[in-house]
Amino acid sequence: MLRGIRMLVLSLMILHSVCGYQLENGGRIWALLVAGSNEYYNYRHQADVCHAYQILHRNGIPDENIIVMMYDDIAYNEANPTKGIIINQPNGSDVYEGVLKDYTGQFVNSTNFLKVLTGDAKGMRGIGSGRVIKSGPQDHVFVNFVDHGAPGLLAFPSDELYADDLVKALRKMAVNGQFAQLVFYVEACESGSMFDSLLPDDLKIFTVTAADPHESSYACYYDSVRQTYLGDVFSVMWMQDSEKENLLRETLHHQFEVVRTETNTSHVEEYGDLDVGSMHVSDFLGFQISRKPNSFTAKLPSVSDSVPSHHVPIAILERKLEAAVDPKEKQEIRFQLHRIMKYRRYMDNVVTKVLMLATGKDESRVQELKLNRYKLRLENFRCYKKLVAAFSENCFKLSDNPHAFRQLYILANVCGHEEMSMHSVMNAIKQVCSGYPQLRGII
Ligand SMILES: *[C@@H]1O[C@H](CO)[C@@H](O)[C@H](O)[C@H]1NC(C)=O
Ligand SMILES: *[C@@H]1O[C@H](CO)[C@@H](O)[C@H](O)[C@H]1NC(C)=O
Ligand SMILES: *[C@@H]1O[C@H](CO)[C@@H](O)[C@H](O)[C@H]1NC(C)=O
Repeated sequence: MLRGIRMLVLSLMILHSVCGYQLENGGRIWALLVAGSNEYYNYRHQADVCHAYQILHRNGIPDENIIVMMYDDIAYNEANPTKGIIINQPNGSDVYEGVLKDYTGQFVNSTNFLKVLTGDAKGMRGIGSGRVIKSGPQDHVFVNFVDHGAPGLLAFPSDELYADDLVKALRKMAVNGQFAQLVFYVEACESGSMFDSLLPDDLKIFTVTAADPHESSYACYYDSVRQTYLGDVFSVMWMQDSEKENLLRETLHHQFEVVRTETNTSHVEEYGDLDVGSMHVSDFLGFQISRKPNSFTAKLPSVSDSVPSHHVPIAILERKLEAAVDPKEKQEIRFQLHRIMKYRRYMDNVVTKVLMLATGKDESRVQELKLNRYKLRLENFRCYKKLVAAFSENCFKLSDNPHAFRQLYILANVCGHEEMSMHSVMNAIKQVCSGYPQLRGII
């Protein structure tokens, strides 16, 4: 018996050292890691993704099988006091060292993401590293996306990925035999809306989202030296669990349960083919053979300082204000805070005006559209994409105004409402916003 176990461990070690990503069925693990934001106040998104890379790397997945998309404006950002270093937890180690940079800057966009995911090497020729997920029918694919979101969409630095396009791409991959199973972890506000009632449960795709379809995800670990948040609660929790547990024994479903319990700020959800949840985490994240049981004893600091993602710009300024001593500096921070608040009120006003115009001043209908959060169905996306595009073009360009993502649920409500006409809202958007100056760059 003991000898059998020793033999098993030995053969596992050999397998791992030769090809740690080789699966029992002969397949391999592929991973696509994406941070969809840029700018220093979003430090945490790229920190999460760099950390995810370090975990996969330590777990024996070779760089050839990992693709990383991140804007890469954090490590050497002028606001970063520790140039060339990114950390993901208080006093944490550098997660930037050695990280892959397949697609950076403007190449981090939704078109490229879908091409890389679906293995469109031809479409990526001459762009970034040009590498794509070249997975086959025996392979396991792990995708991790971290950024801002809104109902039915995930943000990229200068465009958006819509849920219907994502589900279409995943379906195509399943049909083309591009994976045996695929696991997708998403950290974003309203991330549940990317899959809820949209992702079929028979494609061998298992997804876990930081939040349900209607709520914020949360940032955590404010660092007073770096003056930004280092992580996001859901990401911190799944990565902490992955560094602590024996991944050869832990199932995806168990990890989901642990992370759901520990993420008390939002509702972590699972979607898709829940049977995949009975597979081991090591089948998607690899494993560390040299790891001693319970070697990970250091407990991470609690995430008690977490704030909703959209509140981060304000929370950072409040922290800076607390720490500032120079009266002139305090004055400047107060001014910035005031400007953000005023801007957000202004945005709310614009949206209310649009709705008032579109409904012929039907105040109860306006309230209904503002207070509810209807589910986006596949057939609503045509309308939703048009309204979001019109809102972004005429009112607040989404890539320059992250707070505008907070208003999009109202457009989703319009599209799901039987008595609302898309055209009247479209015209109202154009009419109301042509009367306002385009404002940019206020968060
Ligand atoms: C991190 O380091 C600082 C000093 O640089 C120390 O004051 C603090 O207690 C440490 N925090 C943790 C969580 O270890
Ligand atoms: C994404 O980047 C590629 C390569 O630079 C470009 O051709 C494409 O138009 C971009 N897509 C979007 C939506 O910005
Ligand atoms: C979540 O748990 C932490 C401890 O890990 C606690 O400090 C915090 O208050 C809790 N937050 C909520 C919203 O319950």
